[in-house]
Amino acid sequence: MAEKPLSGKIALVTGASRGIGQAIALRLARDGARLAVHGSKGAEETARAVEKAGGKAVSLAGELSTLTGVDALAAAFKRQLGQRAPDFLVNNAGIQASPNDTLERLGEADFDRLIAINVKAPFFLVQRFLADFPQGGRVVNLSSQLSQIAFPEQIVYSATKAAINSLTKSLAKELGPRGITVNAVGPGIIETDMTRDRLLGTEQMRAFVAGNTALKRIGKPDDISDIVAFLLSDDARWVTGAYIPGGGGARL
Ligand SMILES: NC(=O)c1ccc[n+]([C@@H]2O[C@H](COP(=O)([O-])OP(=O)(O)OC[C@H]3O[C@@H](n4cnc5c(N)ncnc54)[C@H](OP(=O)(O)O)[C@@H]3O)[C@@H](O)[C@H]2O)c1
Repeated sequence: MAEKPLSGKIALVTGASRGIGQAIALRLARDGARLAVHGSKGAEETARAVEKAGGKAVSLAGELSTLTGVDALAAAFKRQLGQRAPDFLVNNAGIQASPNDTLERLGEADFDRLIAINVKAPFFLVQRFLADFPQGGRVVNLSSQLSQIAFPEQIVYSATKAAINSLTKSLAKELGPRGITVNAVGPGIIETDMTRDRLLGTEQMRAFVAGNTALKRIGKPDDISDIVAFLLSDDARWVTGAYIPGGGGARL
């Protein structure tokens, strides 16, 4: 039997308890990677689904709104996977603060939480694994198509994703000499808990969102996990510091 493309690799996917992160974990497991799947209280269901499909996964917990939680996740990873860094780190966990994320309504606590989970946690996770990242390691950060446009309706969420794009480029330059690539993927509207009720709650809203894409449909988590799998594959070895849009041609 042919060896799977990611055999022998270990991937840590944050926010893998559901949505896009869960799809990423299942896809990487299918490609042969061993998974560490994370959620604020663990990602047991995802780990079970990976194992049921014949893969290997451990579930790790960590509340990423605090540095203590980031450290707990990094420590749990090292404890359970042999005092090393992952070959692949997928910084996927993220939040929105809608409908309050506007210039007039956003309060300090929500502002700080958006920054902490969407920007600070990915930065410090990379830092915590820095010394141990192997040659040929890969980092993928989940950005958003909102990082590319003016969007006052989610003013700080968009800014956190623009910050992730900036971190992605700087990290690519910093880690490139070690053979490590760092890229960002920017989904358009994908049907998950983040969007289901708020943006896709009625047939009218669904038609509007689908109509805004060139491909005339709503995005699915697998549309994004396949892009991440490409970035982690050997075929993407010469791609780094890139922002890859995953919006089905939205807002062209
Ligand atoms: N869905 C979209 O349309 C869309 C579009 C553009 C970008 N994105 C980005 O894609 C990524 C995944 O989005 P999604 O739609 O899959 O989101 P989701 O369904 O809401 O899932 C969010 C994931 O992040 C984890 N998470 C949230 N807050 C956390 C915290 N404080 N500490 C630790 N983990 C936390 C959740 O864990 P728990 O289950 O433990 O809460 C969950 O696994 C995010 O970065 C998002 O910004 C999504």
